[in-house]
Amino acid sequence: MEEIQNTKTIKAALLGVGTVGSGVYELVRERQDDFINICGVRIEIAKILVRDTSKSREGIPSSLLTDKWEEIIRDDEISVIIEVMGGIEPARTYILEAMRAGKQVITANKDLIAEHGHELLSTAEEMQCDLKFEAAVAGCIPIIQVLKHSMASEDITEIMGIVNGTTNYILTRMTQSGLSYEEALQEATDLGYAEADPAADVDGLDAGRKIAIMASIAFHSRVTFSDVYIEGIRKITAKDIYYAKEFGSVIKLLGIAKKTEDGIEVKVLPILIPKDHPLATVNDSYNAVFVHGTASGDTMYYGRGAGKLPTASAVTGDLCTVVRHLTERHNNLHVCSCYRDIPVKNIKDTCSRFFLRLQVEDRPGVLANISSVFGTSQVSIAQVVQKSRENGVAELVIITDEVKELYFSDAMSILEQLSIIKNISSLIRVYE
Ligand code: NAP
Ligand code: HSE
Repeated sequence: MEEIQNTKTIKAALLGVGTVGSGVYELVRERQDDFINICGVRIEIAKILVRDTSKSREGIPSSLLTDKWEEIIRDDEISVIIEVMGGIEPARTYILEAMRAGKQVITANKDLIAEHGHELLSTAEEMQCDLKFEAAVAGCIPIIQVLKHSMASEDITEIMGIVNGTTNYILTRMTQSGLSYEEALQEATDLGYAEADPAADVDGLDAGRKIAIMASIAFHSRVTFSDVYIEGIRKITAKDIYYAKEFGSVIKLLGIAKKTEDGIEVKVLPILIPKDHPLATVNDSYNAVFVHGTASGDTMYYGRGAGKLPTASAVTGDLCTVVRHLTERHNNLHVCSCYRDIPVKNIKDTCSRFFLRLQVEDRPGVLANISSVFGTSQVSIAQVVQKSRENGVAELVIITDEVKELYFSDAMSILEQLSIIKNISSLIRVYE
């Protein structure tokens, strides 16, 4: 405890504290002790830039709020700037000024990276500082890290992604519940997925920015938002969805980038994909990115593409990386990362559901007898099926509710001794 109290502090400022910013503030506060173990220093959000300092914001101390950028850029104690306000200006200017002042920068702003990524990254290189933007593409899916680092040696030839949660939600509801486009859009708006003006999502612009960013990194060649051919989903009707189903397909809004011999193809459009393709099963507001590399073959990354905490998770992941660079702790990353001592549970103390197939005597009272053994051992039966009976032997299949493994194995030891049980042919766990 004393060690934690004496830990050095790195101060960061948030530019914006809306959906994403409030999530970042919450994670930094609630996981403070873990972040000390992970980064070796305490991380403090020391200032927050907003437009309106008089607005009340739940969980955010008003003493941290300012509407003056100068108070942040001139504060030498602040070494990390986290831009989560959105838009091109003044975000672009603030980020450039921050890097020129020697600060490290993290942003979730895909609009900015897709249009001005080259300028911003060149400045980061010139100033030898970090500019991280994991949250700008596909929320909490760490796809930038994968493309830049984990697949650094790969010759990536194709990326396909469902990278807009709002449109994926709309298309899922149209496919699974037969809603019209308008009804599904209304639901997405009511759930807070779609913005009051949903144009950036439904017209494919948001996905266009994300595929431009991924293509630039994957192909090591700059692709900007204006290079992307874009069609949205406004014209998709219930009939299109119906006929797609007839052809064994589903309609998804995909961002697609391919490296071919004579150039890069990059587009966003609604497209029919076979219903057994991995991307066809990505539903609701989830995102997924499918990457093809010449050596790795296909890999796929799946997760929540938007929302307060999923996006904040990507931003705070970048924050830990930046802080580790500042403290040179990244040099130590080859050492063990286990700072906790959490006991590993014995299988008997864990809980499972069970599928049990057994052959029993085919006569009255047998089922009651088995139920009674289970009941005495705290095992609750969820389903029982008897399909076949032959030569006085019936086959029973029992599925239990979730139960402690110890109680289930107690019941099994008793059952194994009963003469009414002829054979236990299968015992398989059931996924919840
Ligand atoms: P938001 O809820 O609209 O919040 C924006 C915040 O920035 C507000 O606190 C606002 O202050 C502040 N702000 C905006 N313009 C400002 C300016 N000129 N000066 C000072 N403060 C300003 O936005 P968000 O949804 O959190 O999105 C933030 C960024 O993350 C965007 O780039 C977005 O594309 C990206 N992103 C969002 C998500 C998501 O799920 N929401 C997912 C991935 C990436 P006031 O409150 O005073 O108006
Ligand atoms: N509006 C985006 C989506 C989230 O629906 O996926 C922010 O990138």
